[in-house]
Amino acid sequence: MSAIESVLVENRVFPPSEAIVKAARISGMPAYEALCKEAEQDFEGFWARLARENVVWNKPFTKTLDESKAPFYKWFEDGELNASANCLDKHIGTPTENKTAIVFESDDGTVTRISYKELLAKVSRFANALKAQGIKKGDRVLVYMPMGVEGVVAMQACARIGATHSVVFGGFSAKSVQERIIDAGAVAVITANFQMRGGKELGLKSIIDEALAMGGCDTLKSVLVYMRTATPCNMVAGRDKTFDEALAGQSDECKPEPVGAEHPLFILYTSGSTGKPKGVQHSTGGYLLWAKLTMDWTFDIRPEDLFWCTADIGWITGHTYVCYGPLAAGATQLIFEGIPTFPHAGRFWQMIEKHKVSIFYTAPTAIRSLIKAAETDEKVHPKNWDLSSLRILGTVGEPINPEAWMWYHRNVGGERCPIVDTFWQTETGGHVITPLPGATPTVPGSCTLPLPGIMAAIVDEAGKDIPNGSGGMLVIKRPWPSMIRTIWGDPERFKKSYFPEEMGGKLYLAGDGAVRNADNAYFRITGRIDDVLNVSGHRLGTMEIESALVSKTDLVAEAAVVGRPDDLTGEAVCAFVVLKRSRPTGEEAKQIANELRNWVAKEIGPIAKPKDIRFGDNLPKTRSGKIMRRLLRSIAKGEAITQDITTLENPAILEQLAEKL
Ligand code: WTA
Repeated sequence: MSAIESVLVENRVFPPSEAIVKAARISGMPAYEALCKEAEQDFEGFWARLARENVVWNKPFTKTLDESKAPFYKWFEDGELNASANCLDKHIGTPTENKTAIVFESDDGTVTRISYKELLAKVSRFANALKAQGIKKGDRVLVYMPMGVEGVVAMQACARIGATHSVVFGGFSAKSVQERIIDAGAVAVITANFQMRGGKELGLKSIIDEALAMGGCDTLKSVLVYMRTATPCNMVAGRDKTFDEALAGQSDECKPEPVGAEHPLFILYTSGSTGKPKGVQHSTGGYLLWAKLTMDWTFDIRPEDLFWCTADIGWITGHTYVCYGPLAAGATQLIFEGIPTFPHAGRFWQMIEKHKVSIFYTAPTAIRSLIKAAETDEKVHPKNWDLSSLRILGTVGEPINPEAWMWYHRNVGGERCPIVDTFWQTETGGHVITPLPGATPTVPGSCTLPLPGIMAAIVDEAGKDIPNGSGGMLVIKRPWPSMIRTIWGDPERFKKSYFPEEMGGKLYLAGDGAVRNADNAYFRITGRIDDVLNVSGHRLGTMEIESALVSKTDLVAEAAVVGRPDDLTGEAVCAFVVLKRSRPTGEEAKQIANELRNWVAKEIGPIAKPKDIRFGDNLPKTRSGKIMRRLLRSIAKGEAITQDITTLENPAILEQLAEKL
């Protein structure tokens, strides 16, 4: 076995305890395997059964899957339903109706609660207000809201009248908002005067004004403004209305509009590897089924749970696991307005204790930054809070390095909570490869096995299967209910990006590299395909090198690795490193860089040694916490930055990282 392969072998295995297995909905591996088998033996019958059991249909579907226009697959097409009715009305007349749907904690720590019944009234009233604005079924509505109950209400109200929402994360610029309004042909914007983050009032309505002033938003007729704070904002007569104005006199009863299962519930823009952001279009029936089902499968949600997904509604995770999944499951969830480091970096742990959170779902990036904080300041270490209410932990959005996984397992999960490392994408609608908490033995850094019915595989460039133990491209061989339906307004790009002809045109190409373990067939995501480096003919995952660097736990807090062209070796490895101590300069920096090179050589092999090492106080990240690797590639190459850096949290550090040792 080569040195590179050896780093991929993670020997620690954490099976769920017997008690957890016993109590779980999918109890033990045989139960998981039975579901997989059912899906393999009768693919359509399997999905039809689940769709009947988990979704309330106004009109039952008669055909499960239509593949005649593949890859434009259609699920449950002649069925009719309403997504909001499946999240709210369904619970009325059951014990859930008076249960708390949302516990909201604001930036300043104020807590409010809303029951299912109250939420239904609020959504219905808002839906009536949308109708009064002339918004109807099929119209697109852009949502640009802070985290909170009103954001969820806005999305649910759109769903209730059959309007298609397109949520844009509150950290995106006016230019991005304008482009999305135009691309989606939005007729209305739902926004707030301000959002509160870290004790600061940040303008949202002002950004909408700026976006609209850029011109071209000809379809847009109205702007509804939630007054989050008492500070007034600019209002344009005839176009803009506050929520209070729009809601005045509206009834809190509104019949949900049944839509066809394939009706677009939402469009969510996400970056592709090239070109402008693409509007990922999702369906209503298949998407909703998946949101509900994965709450049951992946989180094993129970009536007494307090579920907390920290994602913003501006991202897919906030759609599926804040707006739709928890409500469809009848769960009580916590929604948090603020940021994890305000007023201190123990906020998450404090909130888990305070609200007795039982399922906690967050991003590896957040975990890593809180590890760093806890290691510099004992007072914000999770051990200062009682986290015994937790029973399941989850991660999402990027590969989690085994060290962060172990820390999460020990310090947050008290070595008792299964960690579900959920792999999925905006395009998949919900989890596709993930452990099941009451079945799958977990391995740090592995998303383990596909959910039942998800025919995930690893193939080469020609779409041919690759044996376990070797890396390749992650694909899904059969359609699944919550998959992307098309790219809004660009079906050709949809086909090209996700079902490339070179691979036969039938495999869904995830865009990630992955490897399955030779023994247990567990998946490990090695990062985006565009992040795979080739150094002197050796394939290296940037993640492997990053993992090696951060495993030097006495020194390294965070690391990002990219490739840059090199005359001698084809590509060279360039590492951007944040140390646990202050940023070194001069001779000292050179010395530490050497220490790290030798460390990587020791961990993986000399070929993986970073040629360049740059130190920064931080790494360039989007507000959602993703490292902006394309920016790092430019810096590594010594190019001027031409990319859009509007979502960059901390632009000042770019200069530091450009500094050569
Ligand atoms: C990455 C987020 C490793 C992956 C839900 C994917 C992950 C991209 C994981 C999608 C995971 C997400 N392990 N990598 N558990 N989850 N990714 O569209 O590269 O924002 O293609 O959806 O994140 O990001 P997106």
